[in-house]
Parts: sequence; C-alpha cells; structure tokens
Amino acid sequence: MRMYDIINKKKHGIVLTQEEMAFWVQGFAEGNISDYQAAALLMAIYFQGLSIDETSSLTSSMIDSGETIDLSRVPGIKGDKHSTGGVGDKTTLVLAPLLASMGITVAKMSGRGLGHTGGTLDKLESIPGFQVDLSPEEFMKQVENIGVAIVGQTRNLVPADKKIYALRDVTATVDSVPLIAASVMSKKLAAGADIIVLDVKFGSGAFMKTRPEAENLARMMVDIGKKKGKKMAAILTGMETPLGYAVGNALEVKEAIHVLQGEGPQDLRELSVYLTGITLWLAGKVSDAAKGRVQAEKHLDDGSALEKFRELIAAQHGNPQVIYDESLFPEGKFRYSLLADQDGYLGSMDTEGIGLAAMKLGAGRSKKEDLIDPAAGIIFYKKTGDRIRKGETIAMLHGNNEEQIDEGRDFLKKSLTLQQEAKAIPSLIDDLVI
Ligand code: URA
Repeated sequence: MRMYDIINKKKHGIVLTQEEMAFWVQGFAEGNISDYQAAALLMAIYFQGLSIDETSSLTSSMIDSGETIDLSRVPGIKGDKHSTGGVGDKTTLVLAPLLASMGITVAKMSGRGLGHTGGTLDKLESIPGFQVDLSPEEFMKQVENIGVAIVGQTRNLVPADKKIYALRDVTATVDSVPLIAASVMSKKLAAGADIIVLDVKFGSGAFMKTRPEAENLARMMVDIGKKKGKKMAAILTGMETPLGYAVGNALEVKEAIHVLQGEGPQDLRELSVYLTGITLWLAGKVSDAAKGRVQAEKHLDDGSALEKFRELIAAQHGNPQVIYDESLFPEGKFRYSLLADQDGYLGSMDTEGIGLAAMKLGAGRSKKEDLIDPAAGIIFYKKTGDRIRKGETIAMLHGNNEEQIDEGRDFLKKSLTLQQEAKAIPSLIDDLVI
C-alpha cells in the first residue's frame, strides 16, 4: 500500500477502505508517513468529505493508535458528555456531580481551553488545591468510591488525534465535519463510557457557524457512536450569548455552584437538567427524558448534586469549603464596570469576541504554554433582549493587570451592540439528534 495512491483516490472522491484508513493513521502516528503527505490527504478529505463508514474507520484507527480506558470493573452505567466548545460553558461542572448523584457514574477526561473557549480543567484548577492529574489507579479508585472523577486526558489516549489535530491546525483543515467527528468520537469512545451525550454548538463563537452544519456533525457523531454499540444523543444549542452570566475560570465555578445550590442562571440550569433527563432515559432509568428532567431538578433543589460536587472536590485534593464560602476563590485585584452610554436594549452578543476579551484579561490562552489567571473574567449584568438605561452596568471585568483590563474592555465593547428595539431572545436548545 502506498500513501500516494490513498491521496490520489480521495482526491477523486473514491471511498477509502478500512485497511487504507488504518495504514495512513498508523503510519502517520508512528512517524512513517510525512507531514506533507498526511496534509495532502487531509485537504483531499476536506474537499471530498468522508462517508459515515469511512469516518467510522478513521475513528477506529485513531483509537487503535493508543490505549483505551476499561471501565468494566466499575459497576453500573457509565455516562460521558462532550461539548464542542462554548463561551461560558460550565455545564460539565453541574452535570458530572448531578449525574453521579443520580447513580450514573461519570469517569471524565476533560481538556484545557485554547483560544476563545474555556476548558473544564482550567476551571476546576481555580478551586484551591484541586488536582486534575490523577494516576490511572487513583482515577479508577475515585470513580469506584464516589462515582465521579474529572481528570486530564492521559498522554496515550488517541495519540494519533494529537498529531492529526496539530497538522489540521496549520493546514486550514480543522473545520471539516468528518475530521471533527472522528477527532471527538475517538477520544470519547477510548474513554470507555456506555452513554455519550453531545452538545453541538452553533453560532458566531462555535466551530459550526450554522445550524445545518451543526446538525450534520451531530448526526455523524451519533451514528459513529451507535455503530460502536454506545447509547448516543446530541443536542444542538445556539451560541448567540454566553451560557450563564460568568465567563472566566473561578467566576464560572462560582456560577456552577449557584446552579448546584438550586439557584443560578436559568439557561445553565435548563441545559443541565435537559442533558441529565436524556442521559437517564438512555440509561433506562426513566421512561422518557421529561421524567428524568424532573428528577434532575429535584437533585439540584435538594442539595444532593451539590453534596456530590463537595465529595468530588475533596477527593481531588481541593478545598471543599469553597462551596460555602466564595471568598476562598482567587479574586482579581482590579475590577472595571462597563457602563451603557445610552438607553436601549442589549442586541447581539458576539460570543467569539467575548471569549477573546476574557482571554485578553488572562482567563484563556492564545498558545498552549500561556499561563491562566484563574480570577480573570467577565460577569454580565445584562444579556440579549434586556432593557438598559444610560449609566447602568452591562458587565464587570475582573483581572490582575490594568493593561490587560484595558485591552479586554476594548474587545468587549466591540462585541456588544445596544439598539433601540428589543431583540427576540434566541432559544438555547434547538433540537435533539438521536
Ligand atoms: N474538538 C476536538 O476534539 N476535535 C476537533 O477536531 C474539533 C473540536
């Protein structure tokens, strides 16, 4: 088999066999196929696409490049969730303890943030002492003991994805539906859960800019998971505004705690109970998702999900007192209020711009090596559709460096529009793909 022939076939839109997929993925992962040949194939895939069978073969070959997590020694049903990345998206922080409090085990490998979207690990590390690097044995023990753990991805989980993603990043081939589907699903499948729920975002700050693209991606990922025997569902959610009111690591954890206390912003609560309802239904614990949702609300309101979060923090060496005393979180030295300069309504919120503003404040990274300021970020006081009077605070910027705050403020201003007419509030959950 020759890489030249595989590239040539795909260039002409001919379907690749499972053996051909395995050949190039394995060869590239092991360093036997050059970057320029892999890059040419990625571009051919970008233009010609992949069928569901080809994407499934690509996913399997990527999984085979490394180790997989075997959760069979953990009793019960194991659930996992993935979001394609949103600004202010702290849903995992609510969902993981909520599901665990309802008997669904969550053995979760999460990522760090890069660019304008935040990562769950960075958020959790804003809790003083919290450790995300557990040994495989510690991880399994914790999952068995308390039913939930959230850790960083082990280095050897789908190593082919790391190499392929790095190449996609520099060859303008990231935004290909089959390549994203294989990348996400290889990591989810290697992590070993029985049920996988996906939150596929669309809108200005999302990978998928339009709803049809998001639906296409969701369909593909759901089908790949089902082919591998997993229970799957994906929801399509609009990213027209940040999720909740907080963007930035410690600020987002505090907001997630509010939801776990039965309070907090409605959109974050809604998304969390909706996803939980679907997961319980897929797990066969309720006859329909609506019943699961009602149970989820109960577990938020009666404190059982919050108690599970306390156990999770304590197990991963964090200070569990943070859930009763917010002053234990890192606080920025500086705050700046962004005030409305006229009466009106908050129109569009450019979520990508808001994510970049938070990044400028120190809440995110522009490159992998950048250090995060856990205290930095933005709290919104108004969201799309809200009435605003001149002089009212629209948002508060938090940070530790005045220059960064100036830069973040300029980005934030450009991301918000004030208008004279009230804009219809976009619905958050658009559709369910099963
Ligand atoms: N997230 C991933 O893990 N992979 C992609 O290709 C895109 C988003």
